Amino acid sequence: MATKMKQLTPLQQLLCRNKHCQGPVMIKRNKAIVIGGASAASKILGRLSGDLENLNKLNIIPKLVPIVIGNVAESQVYINHKVKAAAKAGVDCSVQHYPNEITQVELLEKIHELNQDPSVHGIIVQLPLPQHLDEHIICNAVFTSKDVDGFTSSSLGRLVQGVDSDCKASYVPCTPLAVLKILQHDVDIKFKGLNACVAGRSHNVGMPIAMILSHDAIKGGLDLTTTICHRYTPPEKFADAVSKADVIVTAAGVPGLVKPEIVKPGAVVVDVGINPIINPDTGKRKLVGDVHPDVAEVAGWMTPVPGGVGPCTVACLLHNTVLAAKNSGTHRST
Ligand code: GUN
Repeated sequence: MATKMKQLTPLQQLLCRNKHCQGPVMIKRNKAIVIGGASAASKILGRLSGDLENLNKLNIIPKLVPIVIGNVAESQVYINHKVKAAAKAGVDCSVQHYPNEITQVELLEKIHELNQDPSVHGIIVQLPLPQHLDEHIICNAVFTSKDVDGFTSSSLGRLVQGVDSDCKASYVPCTPLAVLKILQHDVDIKFKGLNACVAGRSHNVGMPIAMILSHDAIKGGLDLTTTICHRYTPPEKFADAVSKADVIVTAAGVPGLVKPEIVKPGAVVVDVGINPIINPDTGKRKLVGDVHPDVAEVAGWMTPVPGGVGPCTVACLLHNTVLAAKNSGTHRST
């Protein structure tokens, strides 16, 4: 490991008096390095430019169609980020908005039309969906070859077999891929054999993140020993798992869930939570993650919210879309 073991500082000793804090510690500094996602994102986007040039020579402009149902404020914010980033990268992004009342049959018909349209390379259905729409049925309706969110059963099943972000058959879900890219790009430690804790077990974020962290390096993973925690994990067990983790990834949607006293000094903390709250000082809405800000005093590395995993997730979506455009015509459309 690049990080040297050292004696605890008085502050860290104080923090570690908490009974949860266990195991060898990786101390490198007294304040976490803040990992902005922009750097990993620009590396991903930079690598796309050659592919985009080659596609343009063939008169192909990668086309992404996000489908947005209803008026969820957060979805609108996410979509605006995707539209802006696509325009900047040279990807055609044509959002289709439908009212909250759209029926499942009508939405499936829209997806079917996009599946059949050869000018469309990527289709995403912005989540969450209204309650009357079945998320699994809707997401599985997208052809795997156009599933640039990686949310279909076949894309997720393919991920169980290994992480191949340049795969021709399916695409890795964007947020889990962003977490991997950030860890590989910004954190200079050897992950093999270390412990990880993932908070959250959603099928398209928490579970695939845990899978990627746990996968063998020869299958594109990080060889971490990973514990998944969720809403029914008792607080004591959660604190125990976090305190043993060298890498903590939170995707639980609970502000302040990860507190400094349960974090191992020097740990890598990746915050995937995006929680809108009212700022008590200004009365205005703001976004916070799942990690308490004081964790910066203990962790070795930490991603901020906003500006951490988010920008890298959007870059991964564009990566998948360009790859889908490259792959179009080279594999079966299903
Ligand atoms: N809602 C929140 N994040 C995402 C995402 O990455 N993809 C989709 N489709 N919906 C989301």
